[in-house]
Amino acid sequence: MKILAIESSCDETAAAVVEDGVRELCSVVATSKELHEATGGVVPEVAARKQVESIVPVVDECLRRLGKALGVEPQADQQEIGRQHIDAIAVTIGPGLIGSLVVGVEAAKTLAWAWGKPLIPVNHLVGHLYANFLIDAASKRIPLSTKLITFPAVGLLVSGGHTDLILMRDHGKFEYIGGTLDDAAGECFDKTARMLGLAKYLGGVLVSNEAQKFKDSQASGVKSRHLFPRPLIGSGDFEFSFSGLKTAVSRFVTGEDFAKYSVGEVCYELECAIVDVLAAKTMKAVEKFGAGCLVVGGGVSANGALRVKLAEMCEKAGVTLCIPPVRLCTDNAVYIASAAFFNQNGIVSGKDIAGVHANPSLGIMDGSY
Ligand code: KG4
Ligand code: ZN
Repeated sequence: MKILAIESSCDETAAAVVEDGVRELCSVVATSKELHEATGGVVPEVAARKQVESIVPVVDECLRRLGKALGVEPQADQQEIGRQHIDAIAVTIGPGLIGSLVVGVEAAKTLAWAWGKPLIPVNHLVGHLYANFLIDAASKRIPLSTKLITFPAVGLLVSGGHTDLILMRDHGKFEYIGGTLDDAAGECFDKTARMLGLAKYLGGVLVSNEAQKFKDSQASGVKSRHLFPRPLIGSGDFEFSFSGLKTAVSRFVTGEDFAKYSVGEVCYELECAIVDVLAAKTMKAVEKFGAGCLVVGGGVSANGALRVKLAEMCEKAGVTLCIPPVRLCTDNAVYIASAAFFNQNGIVSGKDIAGVHANPSLGIMDGSY
């Protein structure tokens, strides 16, 4: 089954085709990130206008690449490739920015209706976790194969706006374990980047790069001095809180001691604090629920220190770690197609397609599956 997925929840316009939920045939991502860097944050109206501009070219390019992947003759009208070779359309219905979501949702509905295909609504947050179900053709690494993902699994979602732990009993059978009471881990990385003058928007990766440079510069190895707190690490539940950590960084950066530290070391210390908390609570959940598998997703799962720490802890615990290749950690439509294949409860066709709507405040447990 070949699913064409569309993702437009924020500042990326993405389309992809995935076969049977595991084989990526093509993927296209356009981003308006650079516009939001200039304003120091996403302006919803600007993001939505960019979605409008990009949606047709992105889907068209995706279908052109599908034709190439399938070895079919190029068509004057790429839609013919879609009509002939696509079995269903999937789309992110939320959460996200309403103006951005609506563009993808209405485009997907129109294609499904015009081509006479079913439409599968997808929850973006659940989608992130399904980046692990794709076979990584580039590295031919098996850890991404569905065969190794066994249920019950614990899912850790760490994105720009969410930090959640869920118990995945099976496809579509999820239970909420816990999550952040305030800010997400990604938000804490991003605001630290801003306070340190590294980037005004989505600077998590730059914090991570600075931390890595600092570690590389320490010939005799490096150990955290615990400059920052590990919020709720010993709370005995599965809640997180990162807003106090943001405040701690802000106080530190404006305080007297800041001059004694390099930017790299501050980044390293912040990264250690976030990773320690995420890893400790996640592994507790894995233990409590007897999960044989940890499934990680969301932009922050691209973080090298988090990947290393979870790999070490999972190895010790005899648990399989499933973490996507870095290119699939941030927003794209590949994992939306995979999530759609494995969670078809919300599938609609014919006139019922009209009843699918964008929902900007969809929570991780609000089922589009
Ligand atoms: O999942 P995502 O692409 O968008 C949302 O759905 O929110 O996540 C974006 C988040 C941002 O906070 C970004 O700074 C963070 O992921 N991020 C990272 C890294 N790469 C992306 N945070 C830490 N280290 C990274 N390497
Ligand atoms: Zn995302």
